[in-house]
Amino acid sequence: MKTALQISLLPYNTFGIDVKTDFFIEYDSIAELQVALQSDIVKQNRILHIGGGSNLLFLKDYKGVVLHSAIKSIEKVREDSDFVYLKVGSGVVWDELVAYCVENDLGGVENLSLIPGEVGASAVQNIGAYGVEVQEAIVEVNTVDVETAVIRTFPNLACCYGYRDSIFKNELKGKYIITSVLFRLDKKPNFRLSYQHLEEEVLKIGNVNLQNVRQTIVAIRESKLPNPKISGNAGSFFMNPVISKKHFVSLQEKYPNIPHYYVSETEEKVPAGWLIEQCGWKGKRIGNAAVHDKQALVLVNKGGASGSEIVYLAEQIQISVNETFGIELKPEVNYI
Ligand code: EPU
Repeated sequence: MKTALQISLLPYNTFGIDVKTDFFIEYDSIAELQVALQSDIVKQNRILHIGGGSNLLFLKDYKGVVLHSAIKSIEKVREDSDFVYLKVGSGVVWDELVAYCVENDLGGVENLSLIPGEVGASAVQNIGAYGVEVQEAIVEVNTVDVETAVIRTFPNLACCYGYRDSIFKNELKGKYIITSVLFRLDKKPNFRLSYQHLEEEVLKIGNVNLQNVRQTIVAIRESKLPNPKISGNAGSFFMNPVISKKHFVSLQEKYPNIPHYYVSETEEKVPAGWLIEQCGWKGKRIGNAAVHDKQALVLVNKGGASGSEIVYLAEQIQISVNETFGIELKPEVNYI
């Protein structure tokens, strides 16, 4: 177990915000986590469990204990004629798992290539991209109860997955710590290439296979999304809003080219990036915070931005999207 006092969280958040935490604990086994949870430091302070820090925006120093998993195992637990089941430690870097699956001819997560973050957070956030959500590959989520340090397993259905949503962000927020996730991967990949022009892009580099799908998605992401090592960011800052069909139809009359995704008979999802761009924010900068010039859904730290500077920009965007379209954008990023 690694512990530290008063350390900077700069290496632990992709927005590149320089704040400190009173205590930092990194554990590399369930047993170590259980010991940490029963310690006075954890019992007497508030705690924040972080993954790769790719969905956090720190507004000030953290007065409490930051916990981080270094459980990094990838273990094949069973296999049948169609599937391989992998139990993956919560501290495994998400994209390293995708690379492992692609190298071992296992399908199911290739569309989620290059998403920043770690496996534990992927199961909290239900990460998604290019028509696939991670919950489709999750069998169960293994956790430890923060209060009692007792192990508990949540089968997929008990996780109440939705768009960028799970029970771990709602009723059970802060109550359980994920230690590993059991994934079911396909031996015979079932490619999902209907998102925009994905199939066309894959065919430009060769056959449809796991390697080529991964390579295409990595190239698309690299062309649109800023590299957090160069410009601090947390991927999509807002969620794509779901609006009523009635509201959508009235917007479509005014903006015939408005992109949209079918949700249900009564609802449509609209890309927040499009709404923000229409309001003229793409590439705009206020102080050290800016809207990315290639994807308006991403806010970037131009260097030395404080969390409040990013929030100020986010609020201006929310006001203007609300005034123009009558839509309230909700941050996907957590303010801490
Ligand atoms: N668009 C614009 N202007 C922009 C950005 C987008 O007009 O500045 C339009 C695009 O032309 C397209 C539509 O909006 O018609 C959708 O854009 P894109 O395919 O880039 O995806 P997105 O809806 O903006 C979502 C996810 C991303 C994920 C991509 C691909 C959310 C909040 N974001 O973005 O996830 O990679 O789809 O599947 O659902 C993340 O969560 O951090 C993330 C990057």
